[in-house]
Amino acid sequence: MKNRKVVTVTDSTSGESVECEVLEGVHGHAVLDIRSLPSKLGYFTYDPGFASTASCSSTITYIDGQEGVLLYRGYPIEQLAQHSNFLEVCHLLLYGELPAKARWSEFNAEIRRHTMVHEGIRRFIAGYQHDAHPMGMLVGIVGALSTFYHDTLDISEPEHRELAAIRMIAKLPSIAADCYKYSIGQPFMYPINSLGYVENFLQMMFAVRAEPYIPSPVAVRALELMMILHADHEQNASTSTVRLAGSSGANPYACVAAGIATLWGPAHGGANEAVINMLRDISDPAEIPRYVERAKDRNDPFRLMGFGHRVYKNFDPRATLIRQACHDLLQDLDAGNQPLFEIALRLEEIALQDEYFVERNLYPNVDFYSGIILSALGIPLNMFTVIFAISRTVGWVAHWMEFFSGEEQRIGRPQQRYVGAARRDYVRMTDRG
Ligand code: SDX
Repeated sequence: MKNRKVVTVTDSTSGESVECEVLEGVHGHAVLDIRSLPSKLGYFTYDPGFASTASCSSTITYIDGQEGVLLYRGYPIEQLAQHSNFLEVCHLLLYGELPAKARWSEFNAEIRRHTMVHEGIRRFIAGYQHDAHPMGMLVGIVGALSTFYHDTLDISEPEHRELAAIRMIAKLPSIAADCYKYSIGQPFMYPINSLGYVENFLQMMFAVRAEPYIPSPVAVRALELMMILHADHEQNASTSTVRLAGSSGANPYACVAAGIATLWGPAHGGANEAVINMLRDISDPAEIPRYVERAKDRNDPFRLMGFGHRVYKNFDPRATLIRQACHDLLQDLDAGNQPLFEIALRLEEIALQDEYFVERNLYPNVDFYSGIILSALGIPLNMFTVIFAISRTVGWVAHWMEFFSGEEQRIGRPQQRYVGAARRDYVRMTDRG
């Protein structure tokens, strides 16, 4: 076939060769189609952590780790952060286009129609201990949503898939706020649909029935930015989990619950909470060098939380945007020199001069600063990853929907390299010595 680009793989032992086709992308790395390797040469590829493996073709988000580029459906994150809002970004990620005026009001109405949760969910929440971590509550509650919506679980129906996606985007803020209210013993608030998506969430979190509550515009804008920046990020661990769960035909609520569980890990979405805990442990700038040395010590499990990224090897464009927002917010809230932020900036300065971090391209990622913003907004520490989950829900459901729209709908099932015991026969207990 003309212009067909291939890479020939030759087995130096047998002399056998196979041609692997090169599949170009719109941006970034082309990929090598290695699907014929096992049958033609008898080899699997080996790539623990999938650092060099493309699991799918996707049209949603593109990252260039060397250049610090992040595009949602082709739009640079810097432009979306400056001009857009979270719900518009949700439409963009879900449907691939920025909504025209008429569609925008229709989409808003769709989301508003689903912001309330079934009253049974509130009884469900009451089953948790008051000091339960809200991420543990969120995993259980979102997974249980499928037991409330039997009517729209036929994933072969595009309308059912879309409604499940809309429901989760609309309900995550309400569920998250309910988890918070339950943990502090305050009565649940209900959504007020005349408010914007972020304002509504803040009022469900912080309003009490006895007092009027108007969220500060500064807080709304800072949280809006946070949520735009966290909405999607290619095939990260939690999104890959959602796609893998979706490939088995599991219902969308179960798939997103699996994504929430994966996001909770401190190496992933749990890092924003871990960053604050680390900054509190450091507590004194004079202690920073000792922690930096610990992070470099292979025998010490301590890592500098908020540093490093599987893809970004120069800078995380989200960290750049959020670092400035930190400064602006702390000034606006007159939070002065918030000690944690001072320590964060000093730690950043020291780490970025240390050759261990420089030669490993370990730069502050988005989580390094997001915790500072959330702290300044009065969001409790154990809700940080919950905020990340609210935002990333649109990315998860967009990828879940994309899985069904593509032609690559096979169940995900990686191979392995077996290094266990060689075949052996059963030994009876009496013969085991
Ligand atoms: C998110 O995938 C995504 O897109 C994720 C995310 C998203 O939006 O979905 O961007 C969100 O998860 C951001 C990352 C948040 N996690 C953290 O901040 C936790 C701290 N970071 C590390 O756990 C780590 O950097 C990872 C998990 C983020 C990336 O790990 P990699 O790419 O597998 O890198 P690695 O573990 O192979 O490390 C390479 C080297 C190792 O040293 P050597 O073996 O070469 O001697 O760098 C070292 C590591 O020990 N290293 C660190 C370090 N991160 C890596 N050393 C000290 N502190 C760190 N934070």
